[in-house]
Amino acid sequence: MTTDVLPEIGSIEPNRHGYRTFTLGRFTFERDEYFAHVSWPKGRHLLPADAFLRALQRDIAWGFFYGIVNFDAVIGTVNHYGTVDLYAGRFNDHYRRAGLDDIQNFDTPLIQRVFEAILEDWTNATFDPFASPAETGSAFGPKNGSNKRAITRHRVTAKRMIGCPGDEPRRSDESGFPVNRHFTDVTQDEPDVRPEPGFEGEVVAYNLFAYLSRSDVTWNPSVVSVCQASLYCPTTEEYVLPVIHGNDRVEWFVQLSDEIHWEVEDRDTGTLRARVVMKAGDVAAMPADIRHRGFSPKRSMLLVWENASSELPALYASGTMPPTPVQF
Ligand SMILES: [Fe+2]
Repeated sequence: MTTDVLPEIGSIEPNRHGYRTFTLGRFTFERDEYFAHVSWPKGRHLLPADAFLRALQRDIAWGFFYGIVNFDAVIGTVNHYGTVDLYAGRFNDHYRRAGLDDIQNFDTPLIQRVFEAILEDWTNATFDPFASPAETGSAFGPKNGSNKRAITRHRVTAKRMIGCPGDEPRRSDESGFPVNRHFTDVTQDEPDVRPEPGFEGEVVAYNLFAYLSRSDVTWNPSVVSVCQASLYCPTTEEYVLPVIHGNDRVEWFVQLSDEIHWEVEDRDTGTLRARVVMKAGDVAAMPADIRHRGFSPKRSMLLVWENASSELPALYASGTMPPTPVQF
């Protein structure tokens, strides 16, 4: 059953720490100086406020993404592309066996609206949930202003490709995207393009490394090129992926620079399946039945290659397609 009745968006009065409390179906969200508290009829859970806001920011910005966005081992969302499940303990073997898990389905605009209200109210002026820890201030303490500019950034979603006429622009100092401190060695030259007369608007190339060196966010795949259902979604990574992503399709990873360590777990139980260290040039196909979290010791560049075909989740869920693209 989809819950589509509009709830009150948050309490009118803030709590003694200055933060408002939010209710969504059977779930309640409260925050204090250090933690976000999530409660449901059969349990309660807490997450560090910075980790919670980083996860919430990505869940909102990605439109609940493909498959499952675990905020941690207990709380998260499942995207059904039109509706979204909010759950506690659903993908945690211990919660399931103890009967403490809960899951509730909401129309996407409703959960989006409540999540946006929480993010706005709980993000202090000093904190940028998209930034690396070294490039933002503190998320903690009593309510201290807001940071609307940081939490409503434009999400890059190219229609064809970065740099095409009328499409997403390249980044530059002038447009407010200086080269990141970890990428000062990345050359900024652009390809020399010489189209035949009449094709000037159709033959386009750009320097992807230069583009990524100017990313001001971490763990935020942007769509830089589209060929039917094939989406190139590169991103720059630093510190820890703020969510544990549960796949509903195969994802290809191409490590473009530096190094990321991946923790790969069973999607439904959280049992550890593999640790993968990807160095520059390494390619991996993350299976359709896993969840994963990345650790990037310094800012690195990762190309995430997504297949946006809407029929894929059902094909994997029914076993019609094997969860890995190659069987060895
Ligand atoms: Fe993933």
